[in-house]
Amino acid sequence: MNRKKITVPCIRKMKSSGEKITVLTAYDYPTARLLDRAGVEILLVGDSVGNVVLGYENTLPVTVAEMVHHTAAVARAKPTALVVADMPFMSYQASPEEAVRNAGRFVKEARAEAVKLEGGKRILRMVETIIRADIPVMGHIGLTPQSVHRMGGYRVQGRGPKSEKRLIEDARALEETGCFSIVLEGITSEVAEKITAAVGIPTIGIGAGPGCDGQVLVVHDLLGMDDEFRPRFVKRYDELGKRIRDAVECYVAEVKSGRFPGPEHCYTRDREAEKRRSGETDPDKSIGVEEERGC
Ligand code: KIV
Repeated sequence: MNRKKITVPCIRKMKSSGEKITVLTAYDYPTARLLDRAGVEILLVGDSVGNVVLGYENTLPVTVAEMVHHTAAVARAKPTALVVADMPFMSYQASPEEAVRNAGRFVKEARAEAVKLEGGKRILRMVETIIRADIPVMGHIGLTPQSVHRMGGYRVQGRGPKSEKRLIEDARALEETGCFSIVLEGITSEVAEKITAAVGIPTIGIGAGPGCDGQVLVVHDLLGMDDEFRPRFVKRYDELGKRIRDAVECYVAEVKSGRFPGPEHCYTRDREAEKRRSGETDPDKSIGVEEERGC
C-alpha cells in the first residue's frame, strides 16, 4: 500500500474528520518497519523503552542519549508514520533553555518529527519555548509515569471533581500553548471524554476509554511479549512471548539432536545439487556471499 507521509497537520485534521488515530510505541528499526507497513499513523519512541526494553525499574533512569539512539533507529526506517520522541525525565524540567536544546537534539540528531513531554500547566514555559523553535509538541497528562514518586505509584487519575477540573484545565492550557495533540493516560473514561470534547486538538488515550480521538499502546503489550504484565487497559492481540519461547525451545532441541542444520541449510562443493535442492539460482546470493572465482 502506498500511503502519503503523515505530518502534524494530518494528525490535527483527523480529529475534525472523525477518523480515529492509531499510535504504537516503537524502539527499533525492524519494529518501526513492521508497524509502519501495518498502517499505524504515529510511531512513538516512548521512554517506556526504559522498562520495556532496557530492563530499568521505571522510566526515570532513561537518558537523552538513549532516547536519541532509539529514535534514530526508528527514523532510519523512513516511516510514513509520524515519528514522535519522548523527552525523558529531567531533560526538560529544569529550564526552557535546556528543554529546547534537548528537543532540538531529537530533531537534528535523531530525525524525530515531534517530541512529547509529560505534564500540564507546570511545564507550559518549556512547551512554549520548544514550539517557538518550530518543534511540534505532543502533551501528556493523567497518569504520567515520570511523576511516579509524587503520585506514590501508578494511579488512575480523574476519579474526583478536583482531579477532573485540573485535567481539563491542563488539557486546555496545553492546547492554548500550541500542542498538536495530547496523550491521556490512566484517566477515567468519563473524564477523558470530557477532555476530548473540551479541546480542539486530538486526544490519544491509553487506559482512558473509547471516547478519545485515538489510541496508543506499548507494542510489546499488544503482542503479549510479557506473560506477567496484564493490566486491564491492554488488549493482547497475540501471545508472541509464548510463541518465541516455543520456537526457541524447538531450535534448542533440534541443535541438541542434530536435526538442525539439515542438508537444505548447508553449502557444499556440489553447487548443482544445492540448486536442485533449494530451487535457488545462486545459493551464495542468499547470504550475500560473492562468488569466489576458481574455488
Ligand atoms: O513511554 C511511553 O510509551 C508512553 C506511552 C505509553 C504513552 O508515554
